[in-house]
Amino acid sequence: MTTSAQHHETYPLGLRLAGRLAVVVGGGPVAARRTRGLLDAGAVVTVVAPFVCEDLADLVAEHAPGARPATGARLTWVRRDYLTGDLDGAWLAHAATGDPAVDAQVAADAEADRVFCVTAGDAHLATAWVPAVARTRVGSPSSAAAAADAEVTVSVNAGRDPRRAQRVRDAVAVLLETGELPLRAVRPARAGTPAPGTDGETSLAGAVTAPLVRPVGSVALVGGGPGDTGLVSVRGRRLLAEADVVVVDRLGPRGLLAELGDDVEVIDVGKTPGHHPVPQAEINRILVHHALVGRRVVRLKGGDPYVFGRGGEELEACREHGVPVEVVPGVTSAVSVPAAAGIPVTHRGLSRGFTVLTGHEDVGTVPAARDHTVVLLMGVSRLAETADALVAQGRSPGTPVAVVEDGYGPRQRTTVGTLATIAERAREAGVRPPAVTVVGDVVTLSPAWAGAAPR
Ligand SMILES: C[S@@+](CC[C@H](N)C(=O)[O-])C[C@H]1O[C@@H](n2cnc3c(N)ncnc32)[C@H](O)[C@@H]1O
Repeated sequence: MTTSAQHHETYPLGLRLAGRLAVVVGGGPVAARRTRGLLDAGAVVTVVAPFVCEDLADLVAEHAPGARPATGARLTWVRRDYLTGDLDGAWLAHAATGDPAVDAQVAADAEADRVFCVTAGDAHLATAWVPAVARTRVGSPSSAAAAADAEVTVSVNAGRDPRRAQRVRDAVAVLLETGELPLRAVRPARAGTPAPGTDGETSLAGAVTAPLVRPVGSVALVGGGPGDTGLVSVRGRRLLAEADVVVVDRLGPRGLLAELGDDVEVIDVGKTPGHHPVPQAEINRILVHHALVGRRVVRLKGGDPYVFGRGGEELEACREHGVPVEVVPGVTSAVSVPAAAGIPVTHRGLSRGFTVLTGHEDVGTVPAARDHTVVLLMGVSRLAETADALVAQGRSPGTPVAVVEDGYGPRQRTTVGTLATIAERAREAGVRPPAVTVVGDVVTLSPAWAGAAPR
């Protein structure tokens, strides 16, 4: 806890050095790193050193007169030893010569000139310390001004221990990258522009409309995996942390919604079998509408967006309206739910491939070979018809079958049988969606098969 009586050795600031002179004394790797950072901030840099290392030589070449880098940064190399007077006109000095006497002279001259000075060797001589820095950018800003607003910078000082500061910085950088920190910009509402979460329109029905003021937002179709919050990708999590609006399904990692800010609008379009509260066309319209009024929309879907997820249709709808759209693959239940029950969909000696089908409809023609696994999504209520169809196509009635309900969820359960018996077994057990059905010898690898009564 900080109290007003507490003494702090530094006063943290962010310096805006664009177009301002910074003098770096020294030509080694530390001087090169400092110079690069200053150039990235648009500073006008003078390096004073009789020799420079390769990195610094590259920077000198990149910023040679006439090179005109986009940042407007400039670099001049004064090829000699340091002389008192070299700091004239500087806003900031860096002493990194490796020679304590020269660094001390630079620090003393800087003090006399009232120029802040960073010293690489002796932190006591310095009037400024360089923090360990992590930066990230939210979204895909389209202009330099927007990029500056979109940037989040974390600076860490840890006393005089730069390694400790770097470790803390690295830990924070991971959290920034994975979306576990609240990165989302809370944009102030401008006149005539609805604030996030209050679109100013009374109904979601009807035509897609877009106010004129705000630039177009974006849609990310994020595959959330089978429901466990740990099975969403880092990219997906990051986009969720940046979202203004999240449109969710019934399946998928709904536990992640608890991490969203209070002002993030969550729209539940969840479908249950036989009950489709929001038709697909309306889901498409919601995505497009929110993006066109300037919001970052995440469509958080169960499994993978392109495996019976209608992701292709949502992508097309966005493209038709000129909405930037990104698809983030997810862990599909077709593979992961069997895995949760101890069933690999392929296994050397048992299965050389697999087919994923919807159990809602006729299975069509499926490879009948014994070493080919069939995975069925949906269609729990049509299990008998599906099993009969597979037998009619040449599969043995004794082929092992597992129905895995609520993979990774609190109700996870595996019911096993054969093509001849599974419909009856599932009915007796009261099997309910969501469930994945696996047909093939790989089922014999599951603990449920080993523990089941004679089939
Ligand atoms: C409309 S499909 C969507 C599939 C999803 N896109 C995917 O790649 O997993 C929904 C079906 O996925 C399966 N499913 C998804 N999550 C599941 C889970 N956690 N446990 C069991 N089945 C699941 C069920 O068969 C469910 O009926």
